[in-house]
Amino acid sequence: MRGLDQNRQGGPGIPGARRVRAVRPLCHRGPGGGLDGTLRGYRGADAGRVRTMDSYGLLSTGYDLVLEPLNAPLRRAAQRLCPAQPGWVVVDVGCGTGAGLAEYAAQRCTVIGLDPSPAMVSQARRRLGPDADVRRITGPTLPVEDACADLAVVSLVLHSVPRSTALELLDEVVRVLAPGGRVLVTDFGTGRLRFPRGHLTRAMTGLFEVVAGPQHARSCLDYLRSGGLPPLLAQAGLRPTATRPTAGGHVTITVAERSGRTA
Ligand SMILES: C[S@@+](CC[C@H](N)C(=O)[O-])C[C@H]1O[C@@H](n2cnc3c(N)ncnc32)[C@H](O)[C@@H]1O
Repeated sequence: MRGLDQNRQGGPGIPGARRVRAVRPLCHRGPGGGLDGTLRGYRGADAGRVRTMDSYGLLSTGYDLVLEPLNAPLRRAAQRLCPAQPGWVVVDVGCGTGAGLAEYAAQRCTVIGLDPSPAMVSQARRRLGPDADVRRITGPTLPVEDACADLAVVSLVLHSVPRSTALELLDEVVRVLAPGGRVLVTDFGTGRLRFPRGHLTRAMTGLFEVVAGPQHARSCLDYLRSGGLPPLLAQAGLRPTATRPTAGGHVTITVAERSGRTA
């Protein structure tokens, strides 16, 4: 049993959405941890930072306007590499404004969006409609039941958080993956950039990293210097099954599954 216990109507803002199975909203953090939009119960190393600021607060309003021209083609490429099946449970970790969630919902997947930023969560709820299952996360534990996700999407998140947080997130992703489930990670690549596209997109997103704040920029540099995604996947016990560089080599899209061992 994978927590699929009832039918319900997809949100009115979801193009093409139809009746989809709902996943019980579960929170494993215990009392006070939460789905209620508070930060009580937060146990992560960066708790202080999360408690005092939402680094996506202002950025969330212009996020789609500025970044959708770059992000929409990335999502199309990601979905070509890992096409979703109707009925899949898709968990989007760091769902941002919900653009990816809306696309999976339109493909008749059951979607769960998770994001720590109150501003991003409200953008995603606005996009998907009031019934959307968008959950605010307040720490490393994902409020999703074990083994329920056919697909976990982690798009443009891992480079932006400290390595320890990225590992905690991937550990949680492994926990929530259903048997045979896949992880679809879109993030900055560490391979050679093609001229001019790779250099231009890296410069543009580099500017965004700086605007997002010093912690964000530091994490990004650390991510690139420490080899990007492959070592993180290996440490989390995930094995890449398909990889595709895109955006002139600036971004890599990776599909991974449990490797059955931890490096
Ligand atoms: C660059 S945005 C990407 C949004 C979306 N996934 C996309 O592809 O457009 C990064 C998102 O990750 C979220 N985020 C930051 N720290 C996170 C964490 N520790 N766990 C999950 N999401 C996080 C941010 O709030 C933000 O919405």
